[in-house]
Amino acid sequence: MDEIAILKAIVREMQKGVLVLDKDGTILYANPFFMRNYAPHVEVRGSSIDGLVDSVPLVGAIAEVLKKRKTTGTESIEINDRDRFFKIRTVGLQDTESNLIVFIEDITEEKRVEAIKKDFVANVSHELRTPLASIKGYAETLLDGGLEDRDKLKEFLRIIDKHATRMSRLIEDLLILSRLESHDVPMEQEPIDIYKLIASITEGFKKHAQDKGITLSIKKNGRVPDVLGDRVRLEQVMVNLLDNAIKYTPQGGKVDVIVRYQDGEVRVDVKDTGIGIPPEDMPRIFERFYRVDKARSRELGGTGLGLAIVKHIVQGLNGKVWVESVPSKGSTFSFTLKPAR
Ligand SMILES: Nc1ncnc2c1ncn2[C@@H]1O[C@H](COP(=O)(O)OP(=O)(O)OP(=O)(O)O)[C@@H](O)[C@H]1O
Ligand SMILES: [Mg+2]
Repeated sequence: MDEIAILKAIVREMQKGVLVLDKDGTILYANPFFMRNYAPHVEVRGSSIDGLVDSVPLVGAIAEVLKKRKTTGTESIEINDRDRFFKIRTVGLQDTESNLIVFIEDITEEKRVEAIKKDFVANVSHELRTPLASIKGYAETLLDGGLEDRDKLKEFLRIIDKHATRMSRLIEDLLILSRLESHDVPMEQEPIDIYKLIASITEGFKKHAQDKGITLSIKKNGRVPDVLGDRVRLEQVMVNLLDNAIKYTPQGGKVDVIVRYQDGEVRVDVKDTGIGIPPEDMPRIFERFYRVDKARSRELGGTGLGLAIVKHIVQGLNGKVWVESVPSKGSTFSFTLKPAR
């Protein structure tokens, strides 16, 4: 194979956009990745970059970069075109000074991950700071001579204990999430009688529901085959969903768990008659730390990690998870699992 053929194949298969422009801004070459992703159905080669500004939005952004370009050497710059981010690298072609190669790399995903990381650190710090400030405040008050009043002492210690519990729950949930994400502990894939598992978890919540004046029931629709799953993880899923359903349902309400086999999948619904979720919050509900009402959830001891854990586990088992909800009527959280064969 000759060198030209090899180079051609490389540019053809490259998962980055490549453009070559002459000194007047005419496009001499556009690689298949560029044409496929950024300018489908447009005659790019031979067109001037200014002529394409309207039909190919990304070219408009690149044209701006080229106008501001100062040197004839290599330059790297980040641009955004609507909701996507790109890194544009321009390289002067050595032999003909005025010809230019432009590499276009979509860095939207990197940007997103970067933002999530920043957010995450800010969130964790914030979530730890609040209980810590409380613990410190109450401990200081006690040290400052608050030890005499036995009732006060007991009350303050109870508050300190509550905040310490919150912090250890937060750290535990973070560890679960990080283990799920790192795939350190692989998911078991063993056949499980899912109805039996769910029934036993639901049983464990009966007393809690009763104390809150909520009726909790479980039902099986038809025959349900075993699923392929991880027992401990599936228990976590159910605990988180039931905990939410009971937590966000006022007294006198109902929580129903329905298990069924449908369209080749096992489906579980956890249906409540609770406060529901406003439509604008629905798309973010499975994000880490996302809570509709931060103050209220925190008051109830929540950190907003429960549903993130649920999503991770279900997706890790090749299932789907979603929610339907009507504010002040109730919510139904559903997930599917693959049957064991
Ligand atoms: N069944 C439900 N009804 C109404 N809102 C819900 C329900 N389940 C979850 N939510 C909303 O979604 C948010 C995120 O739920 P998630 O379980 O992740 O966090 P949390 O319950 O606040 O805290 P944690 O689960 O960490 O104790 C909740 O704060 C609440 O606003
Ligand atoms: Mg929860």
